[in-house]
Amino acid sequence: MRVDVVSIFPDYLAPLDLSLVGKARTAGLLDLRVHDLRDWTTDRHRTVDDTPFGGGAGMVMRPDVWGRALDDLLDDDSHLLLPTPSGDRFTQRTAERLATETHLVVACGRYEGIDARVAAHYATRPGVTVSEFSLGDYVLNGGEVAALVLVEAVARLLPGVVGNPESLVEESHGAAGLLEYPVYTKPPTWADLAVPDVLLSGHHGRIARWRRDQALVRTAQRRPDLLDALDPSALDAHDRATLADAGRPPHGAEPQATEDPSGPGGGSREA
Ligand code: ADE
Repeated sequence: MRVDVVSIFPDYLAPLDLSLVGKARTAGLLDLRVHDLRDWTTDRHRTVDDTPFGGGAGMVMRPDVWGRALDDLLDDDSHLLLPTPSGDRFTQRTAERLATETHLVVACGRYEGIDARVAAHYATRPGVTVSEFSLGDYVLNGGEVAALVLVEAVARLLPGVVGNPESLVEESHGAAGLLEYPVYTKPPTWADLAVPDVLLSGHHGRIARWRRDQALVRTAQRRPDLLDALDPSALDAHDRATLADAGRPPHGAEPQATEDPSGPGGGSREA
């Protein structure tokens, strides 16, 4: 995969030399290039922004400078990604989709953002997909942190980057759609806290069941919205009972037998 990141602060992207992403680059699994937007300016001051038409606070990034950069970097099979707090939420599903693509170009805006004609113009270019994405409901000073997040989330899904691909399945927001269960290592007792006995039992079946229960309970407590998105057929009877105990019986669960206030034959019960 090739990834181009364009920013007025290319040094902000230096962490992409480190750790797994750095190794993926060295191993040739990821061809990542960071560019300075000012290399596409034409004036003595290397200007990238100007005042907003219509007035208001702050500065807006000029479309002509971005246009020269993006004309150079986009090819006929590229995905242009624009980090912005007004974009679609970036999720693990987004990362999974992007990990199947061949060329990503991340355009990091600063100030009040990039002139809206840039997204509109490239959306009409054949072979180019344009997506505006947001990390979450908060405002950063620019798109660089979002570019770091995107590159790390995508790169670790590329074949060969994470040593044991099994670990991608059970982790939070993985294929199971649940938060990850808590993990423990040595020593077996620390700060008067013992590792749960079942994890020391060597009983693989019981350990798997305990971990799934923990994942279900954690998800119910911390992110009940994720339970709503689960496929009900992926839950067995034990899962349903665990969720009911946690106070979150799953959607599509068998309705519990309760007194029907409308009396015999009256009303209908929806699952
Ligand atoms: N730029 C500024 N805030 C952002 C956010 N929340 N997500 C992505 N890019 C941003």
